[in-house]
Amino acid sequence: MDKYVINGGRKLYGEVEISGAKNAAVAIIPAALMVDGVCRIENIPQISDTDMLLTILSEMGAKVRMLNRTTVEIDCTSVRKDGAPFELMRKIRASYYLIGAMLGRFGSAKTTMPGGCNFGVRPIDQHIKGMTALGAHVEVKGGFVCADCPEQGLTGAKIYLDKVSVGATMNIMLAATTAKGKTTIENAAREPHIVDLANFLNSMGADVRGAGTDTIKIYGVPKLKSGSYSIIPDQIEAGTYMAAVAAAGGEVTIKNVIPKHLDCISAKLREMGVEIEEYADSVVVRRNGKLQRANVKTQPYPGFPTDMQPQISTVLCMAEGTSVVTEGVWDNRYKYISELKKMGAEVQVDGKTAVIEGVPMLTGAPVVACDLRAGAAVVIAGLAASGTTVVEDVVYIERGYENLVGKLTAIGADIVCVSEPDDPGISDTPAIV
Ligand code: UD1
Repeated sequence: MDKYVINGGRKLYGEVEISGAKNAAVAIIPAALMVDGVCRIENIPQISDTDMLLTILSEMGAKVRMLNRTTVEIDCTSVRKDGAPFELMRKIRASYYLIGAMLGRFGSAKTTMPGGCNFGVRPIDQHIKGMTALGAHVEVKGGFVCADCPEQGLTGAKIYLDKVSVGATMNIMLAATTAKGKTTIENAAREPHIVDLANFLNSMGADVRGAGTDTIKIYGVPKLKSGSYSIIPDQIEAGTYMAAVAAAGGEVTIKNVIPKHLDCISAKLREMGVEIEEYADSVVVRRNGKLQRANVKTQPYPGFPTDMQPQISTVLCMAEGTSVVTEGVWDNRYKYISELKKMGAEVQVDGKTAVIEGVPMLTGAPVVACDLRAGAAVVIAGLAASGTTVVEDVVYIERGYENLVGKLTAIGADIVCVSEPDDPGISDTPAIV
């Protein structure tokens, strides 16, 4: 059971390098299963979610070899469809991408339902609707998802998503890659990681067009071939460091980013009085003056990302005036507010809306990371607060942030990770994000 101990109130200065995008990597690693050969993937983030997916592929018979810290070679030539380790799948939400990938590769899939949920109901009905439209028979029973293709395989179809869903868009894209004929996904999600998955598949021989728009067309190909691909930088990790500098003050150069992906985060922080300079693959974030209030509404891309809502709300807790935050994607994503209140934040939550009365300063306290981004939020609060903050359950944070403690220390934060022996009665199963 690790904890972070943060002595707050220090401004942040220096440079931080952003890792590969978690939400792209967790789709691209399962997609490697569809390649009947070797694929080399660069810029893999070193986080527990990617470790878990690579372990799942190895247990299914893939040969997984790390060439260096961030480059992996995956050989799925002799992968078996019945080798899937269900206990690992249950721990990670992104294991739902194995449904699309296994259907595409083997014509059938058996996976666990992605377990637990941290911010409201997280159905997979749109994934199932898409695969069913392609001709698969999908059944959810006893905590498992079982999907089978008809004898002739999957056939392209026109699919209109009832709700803009990142997971459903990518999962249907995977299954359709080797279906016969053309699939059209309408009302598709447009996040940068959707484009990244399409680019990965195309570099392995697929024909996916229109990713990044709300209409994606997939022309089925018989099989995918070996290839090499580099994952995009993580938009949310970059946004988290931007929010940390906004909260704690100082000046930090955030390197290895695609500034376009950060547009709506940069715009919101500028509105709050934070200076941001954009360069080709970096941004400089500077905050010396007072923070101003702002309203934020989360939406699918290119709107303000829901995965940045806890971090930006934390910054607003220290802004002058009243801010209103509206969560437009998830039903219940404000659990972390009770942690921020322990640090002196003044926030009222009503359904999907949080009304934040800015206070001049937060005060360090013992808090808990409720999930991945909620964990990032309390770390940001701890960096800006006076006194000491102890963050428990950091296992959730480590699912999605590579070397958070090391990167923050390098820009002047006083943060250490303290390990304590595990309590045998407590499960370390990570929250699902
Ligand atoms: C992904 C991200 C998560 C992020 C979310 C929204 C991963 C592993 N996780 O989650 O970090 O917060 O995108 O950007 O990439 N919905 C349905 N039916 C479905 C699927 C989704 O109603 O079949 C609803 C959800 O309840 C939610 C909304 O659609 O209200 C968006 O969900 P979705 O984009 O699918 O999120 P995930 O892919 O699970």
